[in-house]
Amino acid sequence: MGKPLYSDFFTKELLLWYDQGNARNLPWKESKDPYQIWLSEIILQQTRVEQGMSYFLRFRETWPSLEHLAKATEDEVLKAWQGLGYYSRARRLLACAKRVQQEYGGKLPADYDALLKLPGIGPYTAAAIASFAFDLAIPAIDGNAHRLFARFFGIEIDPLSSLGKRAFRQMGERLIARNRPADFNQAVMDFASAVCRPKNPLCEDCPLRPGCRAFAERRVQELPIKPAAKTKEKRFFYYLALHLPKGQTCIRRRPAGDIWQGLWEFPLIELPHKIANPLSQIRKKTAKEWGLPQGINWRMRGPFKHVLTHRELHLTFLEGRLDEVPQPLKKNFRLVNRKNLPTFAWPKPLVHWAEKIAEM
Ligand code: ADE
Repeated sequence: MGKPLYSDFFTKELLLWYDQGNARNLPWKESKDPYQIWLSEIILQQTRVEQGMSYFLRFRETWPSLEHLAKATEDEVLKAWQGLGYYSRARRLLACAKRVQQEYGGKLPADYDALLKLPGIGPYTAAAIASFAFDLAIPAIDGNAHRLFARFFGIEIDPLSSLGKRAFRQMGERLIARNRPADFNQAVMDFASAVCRPKNPLCEDCPLRPGCRAFAERRVQELPIKPAAKTKEKRFFYYLALHLPKGQTCIRRRPAGDIWQGLWEFPLIELPHKIANPLSQIRKKTAKEWGLPQGINWRMRGPFKHVLTHRELHLTFLEGRLDEVPQPLKKNFRLVNRKNLPTFAWPKPLVHWAEKIAEM
């Protein structure tokens, strides 16, 4: 681990780099409004800046303050979140806004431990808000900090293990500039994105190179260490787009306890394995569960692969026409006009399909 000498060098050079016109211009850095900072950090939790930017701007325009957001419905927030993934973030965002409105009169607390107790706010996000909005000297340790610290100090601990979490937080506490905590945290992120990049880091131009242990030992590409990736669970989804009388189709909200909670979907048959010809199983199951006639002429598209963090989905879409709506179908689903499908919040791989069905 680095000696204090290297820690001083690190902090000084990093801030010098930041002050020399290398700070990234980002819309949520324009003010110290805790609401905007919190909103940007939730959006950026598992999202790249380039992708999150338009969402941030749209959220800020729709809900200019926490008080506005606290009055939104979950459907409105999920719809605005559509396409960003990890939808529990959207639900927690709203839950947090409501809690802060109720408990703190709409103002996020200027206190790390109080922030940590709020929905959707973990150690990184609490530290980011505490430093960016309130100038508290708490290191914000994210993937950028892991990479930068691991390389500079040559650390071979998995940053996501409990030991690693403690070690990287302690490193951050030692390194953070007490007089400029917000700039320090932002500089770590900007520097790690621009120079100490995951792939092709710019070591040739790096002002930290004279103290960088990984560079000296030619281990830059090996750090930070990543534990072996777990194999993803494969799931096989068959979605039914039904053309019902009067331009209708049927959909339902995804239940709690599985992916995409609260988003909308078409009637779903999930099969446990990959099957060469799934139609006979689908016919049996749809007859039993929803009373569909077995003779429907299905038009099948797919399978399409959609990869999530822990899962690999194989999606197949089936289109079919039905002249009468069986009772069990009515009971289990919401009947909607196909034209209205785009107004619902859909999981990303269903958006295109929903729009297509709406136009038919
Ligand atoms: N990722 C999360 N927060 C960020 C920020 N403030 N700047 C750049 N990237 C970020």
